[in-house]
Amino acid sequence: MSGKMNARPAAIGIVGLGLMGSSIVASLLAFKHPVKAVAPLRGEKEAGYKRILEQLLLCEKFDMLSDPFETYLALLTVSEDFDDLKDCELVVECIVEDISIKEVVFKKIAAVIPKDTIVASNTSAIPISILQKMVPDPQRFIGIHWAEPAFATRFLEIVCGNQTSEATADAVIALALSWGKEPTVLKKDIRGFITNRLMYAVYREILHLVEKGDTSFANADKCFRYDAGSWMTLMGIFRRMDYTGLRDCFTAYRNIFPLLSNSDDISPQMQTIADTRSRGIQNGKGFYSYTRDEAAQWSQAFSVFNKDIFRLAANYPEHLSGEEGEHT
Ligand SMILES: NC(=O)c1ccc[n+]([C@@H]2O[C@H](COP(=O)([O-])OP(=O)(O)OC[C@H]3O[C@@H](n4cnc5c(N)ncnc54)[C@H](O)[C@@H]3O)[C@@H](O)[C@H]2O)c1
Repeated sequence: MSGKMNARPAAIGIVGLGLMGSSIVASLLAFKHPVKAVAPLRGEKEAGYKRILEQLLLCEKFDMLSDPFETYLALLTVSEDFDDLKDCELVVECIVEDISIKEVVFKKIAAVIPKDTIVASNTSAIPISILQKMVPDPQRFIGIHWAEPAFATRFLEIVCGNQTSEATADAVIALALSWGKEPTVLKKDIRGFITNRLMYAVYREILHLVEKGDTSFANADKCFRYDAGSWMTLMGIFRRMDYTGLRDCFTAYRNIFPLLSNSDDISPQMQTIADTRSRGIQNGKGFYSYTRDEAAQWSQAFSVFNKDIFRLAANYPEHLSGEEGEHT
C-alpha cells in the first residue's frame, strides 16, 4: 500500500447527501473533482440533488466558479447505487452520527471499492480508532471533519486513528490544500477532536450561567459575537492571549477557574431541548424560535458571512496567520 494519490483524484465519493454531504459535494465540484454522490436511503436522491444544486449556485454567486455552471454539473453523478463508488480514490462517509448505522454503510462501501481507496468519515465526535476497526484496511481510514458551509470555510480537521498510515494522512493533507483549506492535522485521535472540545467547554459554561439566572441567551450571544467575534479569525487563541499581555490569564487561573462549571450532567436546558425534539433552524424550535423565512435568512446569511470572512482574512499578510514563531 503506497497511500499515494494524485493531487486531483479520479473521483471522490460522498455517501450521505444531507446538510453536510451536499455542501461537501458542492465544495469538491467547485475544485473540479468528479464526484460520485450516493444517497444511502431510498427516496432521498432527488432531495440530495436539489440541495447540491442550491449549494453549487451559492458557489457561483460567490465567484468561486470560473467556468460555466454546466461544466461543474457535468462532473456530478447522483445515485442510490454504492457500485458508483468503484472508481473512487477517496470515499467520504457523511451519514447520521450513529455508530451502528455507519458500520453498515462502511460494509457497503468496502464491498465495491478497490483496495487502495482511502475511506474517510466526517464524524463530529466518534473516535476514528473505533470506526477504522469496521473497515478491511484500517491503515487507509481517516477522519476528515468539515464545517458547514463546506465550500466557504477554510477549516478542515484531519484526524488519524491509531492505525491510520502516514501515507494516508499525507495524501489527504495534499488534497485539503488543493481544496483551499487550512487543515489542522490531529496525529492522535482525541475524542471530540479540537474544535468540538473547545466549543462544548463554552456551551457548558454559558448554559450554567443562563440556568443560574446570571444572564440570558441573547445577552450571552451579544457578548460572544462582539468580543470573540472581533479577534478569532485573525488570532486564534494563543496569539490572542499573547496580545492581551498574559498577566490577566495567569490571574484568571487562580480566581476564575475554580468558579467555572465542571458538571458532567446534561444541563436542564439541554434536556428540555432533547425532550421537545427541538432541532433549531431545522424545525423552528431551539434556544430561539424561527419562522420558515427567518430560518432561511439565517442559513443564507451564514453562507455569505463565511465567504466574506474568507475574503477578509486573505487581506492579511501570511506572516500574520502562519504558525512560524511557535514557542514550545
Ligand atoms: N451538521 C454539521 O454542521 C456537521 C459538521 C461536521 C460534521 N458533521 C457530521 O456529518 C455527518 C452528517 O451530518 P449532517 O449534519 O449532514 O446530517 P443530516 O441529518 O443532514 O444527514 C444525515 C444523512 O444520513 C443518512 N442516513 C440517515 N439514516 C440512515 C441510515 N439508516 N442508513 C444510511 N444513511 C442514513 C441520510 O440519508 C442523510 O443523508 C454526521 O456524522 C455529523 O456528525 C455534521
